[in-house]
Amino acid sequence: MFSFPFSNQDFLEPRCVWVNGPVIVGAGPSGLAAAAGLKEQGVPYVLLERADCIASLWQKRTYDRLKLHLPKQFYHLPKFPFPEHYPEYPNKKQFIDYLESYANHFNIKPQFNECVESAKYDEGCRLWRVKIVSTNGSTRSEVEYICQWLVVATGENVERVMPEIEGLQNFGGEVIHASDYKSGENFRWKNVLVVGCGNSGMEVSLDPCNHDAKPSMVVRSSVHVLPREIRGKSSFELAMLMLKWLPVWLVDKILLFLTWMILGKIEKYSLKRPSVGPLELKNTQRKTPVLDIGALEKRFSFSFSFSFFFFFFFFCSSSCWLMRN
Ligand SMILES: Cc1cc2nc3c(=O)[nH]c(=O)nc-3n(C[C@H](O)[C@H](O)[C@H](O)COP(=O)(O)OP(=O)(O)OC[C@H]3O[C@@H](n4cnc5c(N)ncnc54)[C@H](O)[C@@H]3O)c2cc1C
Ligand SMILES: NC(=O)c1ccc[n+]([C@@H]2O[C@H](COP(=O)([O-])OP(=O)(O)OC[C@H]3O[C@@H](n4cnc5c(N)ncnc54)[C@H](OP(=O)(O)O)[C@@H]3O)[C@@H](O)[C@H]2O)c1
Repeated sequence: MFSFPFSNQDFLEPRCVWVNGPVIVGAGPSGLAAAAGLKEQGVPYVLLERADCIASLWQKRTYDRLKLHLPKQFYHLPKFPFPEHYPEYPNKKQFIDYLESYANHFNIKPQFNECVESAKYDEGCRLWRVKIVSTNGSTRSEVEYICQWLVVATGENVERVMPEIEGLQNFGGEVIHASDYKSGENFRWKNVLVVGCGNSGMEVSLDPCNHDAKPSMVVRSSVHVLPREIRGKSSFELAMLMLKWLPVWLVDKILLFLTWMILGKIEKYSLKRPSVGPLELKNTQRKTPVLDIGALEKRFSFSFSFSFFFFFFFFCSSSCWLMRN
């Protein structure tokens, strides 16, 4: 990588840097995996990360009780399995430790505090122009990386979006977003309203339950809740196994039948199932099924309308047109 003196006036400000290989944006699990792959092939690259650490979503925006909800063999990065002694569902700390070891193993050194502001493909010179703002303490500088290839690994869940809800500013209680939630410890004996029935909403609701708080949940759409495990086997693993031989619609039917055997009718929790099956919905609308790890058993109340509570939590969506982490 070296500074590149372009003759075009456009390229003079900010400073231009030629990258002899791809620029990867984002040092989450995907960016690290891309970097490791390139390293293995001896391809030079630059890995840009706006935060000051790898896997910033996991390190800064997740709650204490978080565990992977897929068994570890489905979640390790290429060519570097989880350590043997890790449990089937590693917790947040174990996962972050694993990612740190991954980066060390492949000698991946991201450039931290470098936020990509824009990336444009210049048809004329067939190169990417990636503008970044770099911060170092109170110093802020702008750089433009010029490269042939761009890998965008900025994640689906890293942006937090709060919905605008009329009258919320007059609410006297505390309002927080799921990405700021850490533990139910502070909510002992409190009424808590959880907005949104994604995996975040369901899992974090368990915390107040376990701290003698009284959570309720607002669910605005139909949702697929599946048990995390069916007869001791991960539902996800079972689905992957069946998909080798059966079409998606049939696997969906079997999954829903098994779910019904374990959880019973979901309507008894005031929830509604979508008419499309869970895998098909994921494939077509990117809506992830919720994997129940015991929240339904707690039978806290689900409702389809707002009511007055002391606390609000917002559980974010990965869908870019709505709310995000
Ligand atoms: C609470 C929670 C639990 C989850 N658990 C699971 C799970 O168990 N299993 C599962 O499969 N998925 C899970 N997910 C989904 C999650 O998206 C993935 O686990 C994983 O983090 C995706 O990795 P990624 O590298 O694609 O994106 P991210 O982890 O989101 O990483 C993206 C990186 O890009 C950086 N970045 C973004 N924009 C810029 C920019 N403009 N310039 C520079 N850097 C930028 C960010 O700072 C971030 O570090 C969970 C998500 C949440 C919120
Ligand atoms: N342990 C784990 O592994 C774990 C834990 C947490 C998250 N995750 C993963 O992280 C990703 C993001 O999950 P997530 O739960 O944070 O987001 P999500 O799956 O997008 O769910 C967001 C929820 O909020 C609702 N919502 C959004 N805006 C709303 C509004 N204005 N009013 C009422 N409800 C609203 C959505 O309803 P609609 O359906 O109507 O949009 C949805 O139920 C997923 O891939 C998930 O699997 C994994």
